[in-house]
Amino acid sequence: MTDKPEPPDEAAGAGFATRAIHAGQHADPATGATVTPLYLTSVFTYASVGVHRGYEYSRHSNPTRTALEQCLAALEGGEHAFCFASGVAASDAVFRSLRPGDHVLLAEDLYGGTYAQVEALIRPMGVEVGYADACDAGALAQAMRPNTRLVWIETPSNPLLRITDIAACAGAAHEVGALLCVDNTFASPALQTPLSLGADVVMHSTTKYLGGHSDLIGGAVITSNAGMAEWLETVSRIGGAIAAPFDCWLTLRGVKTLQVRMRQHCANASAVADWLRARPDVARVWYPGFEDHPGHATASRQMRGGFGGMVAAELAGGGPAAVSLLNAVRTFALTGSLGGVESILSYPWQMSHKPLSPEERLRRGVTPGVVRLSVGLEEAEDLMADLDQALAGA
Ligand SMILES: Cc1ncc(COP(=O)(O)O)c(C=O)c1O
Repeated sequence: MTDKPEPPDEAAGAGFATRAIHAGQHADPATGATVTPLYLTSVFTYASVGVHRGYEYSRHSNPTRTALEQCLAALEGGEHAFCFASGVAASDAVFRSLRPGDHVLLAEDLYGGTYAQVEALIRPMGVEVGYADACDAGALAQAMRPNTRLVWIETPSNPLLRITDIAACAGAAHEVGALLCVDNTFASPALQTPLSLGADVVMHSTTKYLGGHSDLIGGAVITSNAGMAEWLETVSRIGGAIAAPFDCWLTLRGVKTLQVRMRQHCANASAVADWLRARPDVARVWYPGFEDHPGHATASRQMRGGFGGMVAAELAGGGPAAVSLLNAVRTFALTGSLGGVESILSYPWQMSHKPLSPEERLRRGVTPGVVRLSVGLEEAEDLMADLDQALAGA
């Protein structure tokens, strides 16, 4: 299927952190360089006519990208991984496997850009699009159709951190012959591996926790489904929205520290969530680590090592209080992304979820008073002090 060399198996069977540092990242065959080199080349010289050394042209494959793909496949426990130029290029590659007359069923609570993509690019192709509350097994089963080919969920979801039972969802999808794809961006494979729970496809915005340093844009899809892998190989080669070598190199460097970063993201997020919950000016806090979070039992079962670095909160003072808080933070950056070492405060009402109509946002609980926190790796006390001073004026 590919001219990429077979994955080396020296890290196969090793623990997560070992795979993160070693899978796909063997010493460079040409020089012995221990760290995977950045192969900035579009072409690879043939040994003779028709004989190449495993690589021909960097749109098809590039050794730096291959190393990252092998590493991500090993981390998610999949046979194949494909790295794309962005998270939305990765999701686009999966959605484009659908054909006119097929039905795709998406969870209601998901990244606004995924919603925008499906509505702007996929529905006009003649694909039927439906939404359901994926946290409600009954609602999900009812929304399935005989022509459902793909079910798409996020857990924890963006922005309200709702938890979907991946194994139950996979069962429901498989009953009608559909594939289940999980956007695993919020959890990262350090905390959750959907393929091991029955999902068929995993998608990532590597821009977030996998890269981990807010310095790149990238996406990835991982699968053991042979048909989907063949399709992704085709889309990657012929569609060409592949990840550039430098972005792959940065992502590989980020992935090496994923496990330790996620441990600290989880610890800081848990501390900040507890602190926010005790404030009278905060009406509601969403964090799957709370024992009374409706998805806590499921999250405890399907996540390991923590509940993630994301927290959502609704201010008692609604929209005006949220805007005042967002404008007053100093250590938190006011911006739209997540998953970096620095803490980020974002405003789903005007940022990630703007593609949805105001009515849709409200129906999904994304009110003007909701803020989303990507809790970074600063000292938790400094983060609380920043929120304290910013809330004082809210
Ligand atoms: C959960 C989730 N999925 C996908 C994406 C899209 O990723 P990218 O911005 O890398 O295209 C994002 C971006 O914010 C996201 O939060």
